[in-house]
Amino acid sequence: MARRNKLKKFNDLLSFSNVYENYDPTDPKLMASETEEVDLKGKWKSDHFKNDNPLVLELACGRGEYSLALARTNPSINYIGVDIKGARIWQGATIANEENLDNVAFLRTRIEQIGLFFEKGEVDEIWITFPDPFLRNSKANRRLTSMQFLNRYKEILKSNGIIHLKTDDPTLYEFSQEQFAECPFVEVLYDRDDIYSQPLDFDELIHKTYYEKQHLEKKRKIKYIKVKLSK
Ligand SMILES: C[S@@+](CC[C@H](N)C(=O)[O-])C[C@H]1O[C@@H](n2cnc3c(N)ncnc32)[C@H](O)[C@@H]1O
Repeated sequence: MARRNKLKKFNDLLSFSNVYENYDPTDPKLMASETEEVDLKGKWKSDHFKNDNPLVLELACGRGEYSLALARTNPSINYIGVDIKGARIWQGATIANEENLDNVAFLRTRIEQIGLFFEKGEVDEIWITFPDPFLRNSKANRRLTSMQFLNRYKEILKSNGIIHLKTDDPTLYEFSQEQFAECPFVEVLYDRDDIYSQPLDFDELIHKTYYEKQHLEKKRKIKYIKVKLSK
């Protein structure tokens, strides 16, 4: 993407009322605009969404397609797409604004810092859609289903909160199965290695992100695991 185009998108983000950005990974303050700092930890429902509906995160949301699709079909659930790439978030936030989807917001941060921005038990569910598999074993702790990340999610998910993982990658899939099996506070509720080989068991699996469409074109099998966190 041309640098000028990217800079324009970064500038736009600061004017979007549905995007928050963190510039200091040690500080829970978020920028709501160029000049307005906010602290939404524990206050997303009251201060941003202005309702008491459930809160669902999509981690590594990229262009936010899954959040947008879920938000369209579930208007009484609040969704927040989280990613570090501003130009990708710009695309999702622009569509949400055009469609007046006020039950979707976006948070630009590293997922490693997620605990800074959500209170204990504030989140009902987490979707992880086609995360980078980080295939080298030396990078396994960067996988979003590694034990380090599961411990972070435990801090912000409510008791019995749900995590959904959709991936095409066999290495990440098997790694996730192992991590979930080893984790004392995780219970696997559902696990399929090829969801489209049979009628879908859950309507919410029908949505396809940019990456999922690419994987399907290459005839890759889409895998899905749903787990519950108990405390
Ligand atoms: C392969 S893309 C998938 C995007 C989207 N979920 C989809 O299916 O189209 C992975 C995304 O994860 C984001 N990402 C990876 N590691 C991250 C991290 N630690 N914190 C925030 N974003 C991360 C990248 O910026 C990228 O947009």
